[in-house]
Amino acid sequence: MPRYAITTFGCQMNVHDSERMHEVLRGAGYVESDDPRAADVVVLNTCSVREKAEQKLLSEVGRLAKLKRERPELVLVVAGCVAQQEGEKLLTRAPSIDLVVGPDNIPELPRLVDELSLGAPPLVRTVFDIEEPRFLTALSVAAGSPTAYVTIMKGCDERCSFCIVPYTRGPERYRPSDEIVAEIAALAAAGVREVTLLGQTVNSYNDPQKALPRAPGASADDPDESEFAALLRRIATEVPDLKRLRYTSPHPRHLTPSLIQAHAELSVLARHVHLPVQSGSDRILKRMIRRYTRAEYVTRTAALVRAVPDVALSTDIIVGFPGETDDDFAATLSLVREIGYKGLFGFKYSVRPYTPARKLPDDVPEAVKSERLARLFEASEELLGAHLRGLVGSGQRVLVEAEGKEGGASFSGRTERNEIVHIHGAEGLDLRGEIVDVSIVRANKHSLQGELTEAARAAARSLAPAAPKARAAGGRRSLPVLPVSPGGH
Ligand code: 5AD
Repeated sequence: MPRYAITTFGCQMNVHDSERMHEVLRGAGYVESDDPRAADVVVLNTCSVREKAEQKLLSEVGRLAKLKRERPELVLVVAGCVAQQEGEKLLTRAPSIDLVVGPDNIPELPRLVDELSLGAPPLVRTVFDIEEPRFLTALSVAAGSPTAYVTIMKGCDERCSFCIVPYTRGPERYRPSDEIVAEIAALAAAGVREVTLLGQTVNSYNDPQKALPRAPGASADDPDESEFAALLRRIATEVPDLKRLRYTSPHPRHLTPSLIQAHAELSVLARHVHLPVQSGSDRILKRMIRRYTRAEYVTRTAALVRAVPDVALSTDIIVGFPGETDDDFAATLSLVREIGYKGLFGFKYSVRPYTPARKLPDDVPEAVKSERLARLFEASEELLGAHLRGLVGSGQRVLVEAEGKEGGASFSGRTERNEIVHIHGAEGLDLRGEIVDVSIVRANKHSLQGELTEAARAAARSLAPAAPKARAAGGRRSLPVLPVSPGGH
């Protein structure tokens, strides 16, 4: 059987697209190879949101080109956003590439590889499915894991001036709510505990079926209102077995009263929201075309915190956007402290092709960008450190996702607020996929260390199988889950 290997760069959307590629390739009779050097088809699933990611791709292609000289029959595929962005041009820039496929053309991957093996010249397929959007599932990949991604929309209608995504992912297209709910129900039935809804601006969701009743709190004349809260309610009602529901990435504009009310009322919603702010300066937000002010962002997040008092917020920030002064950056730092983010991804601005901001001079010197980024990380480490230290001695409920690096008796998972917890001393137990009560005994730099509570240990031990759990898809779930506390947050 032919063998394939996939290397993934970039965001969760790309991770999920790679899962779909696994599914379509397996469906066509391919088997995964652990070693790309032994594969017949090598896929690089690329990201172009920042310059660095693109450079990474080209150096990876260079490495594979050497391999191709030894094995000319190797098929080299570039997929994802760089594929969509560059199309044909990639074939000229890197002649070792055989196939370029955009994010909407994943289903065609096996057919295109077949055509190549029949002697076709290098192929490019980067067509958006605007008329009839396809939302592939990756059930067989997700079923072996406690967590899974489900795409609810794709593309982006925002025009943030720094961002290439509207160009690489096309306009917004939404998936029918029936399909979304059916996929989540199937995942939950296969043992998945936590689902993360995916979309470029996930909370701008509107149901193309028009099958959702208006969510409580949704005002008909609020231009930022969407049907996202209504979708969350439908999932919570129709998939009661699901333990946790997350979503990424929302746009602050659509953090509307109906969504805040859903957070207050739906216990399945994790108490963590990743809400990219990008800058704390109104002047820069305007130049970024973010369509909110700092005050609006603060007001909306404050309402969310009032509704869910211990909700954790995390964010994305760009430093060194064209024209960013020391005062603008100071405003960003002050916002970071004001909100008290529990997680922060910071990026140096890099000019992207096809973006409105490409016309602005990239005028913040590299050294200043680096210095601002370092100060930003310092502030975020300080906030996270203080937060984690404050949790020592508390009890936390952790969804165990994986065995720890040390293997054996250690595991790791996340709380609802997304804090990473390492659990030690679980000798003889297989906790993967379980939701367990843990006492926090120590704070590390970016994570917590915990021990199973006596009750959790007794519950797990009384049910623990002597033999290890099967890891294959569908072969898991031998311990029942501890009950998740009922009611709102
Ligand atoms: N330069 C730097 N960072 C960027 N991002 C998006 N575009 C750019 C760019 N041109 C960052 C934003 C976004 C995250 C995914 O990547 O912060 O939220």
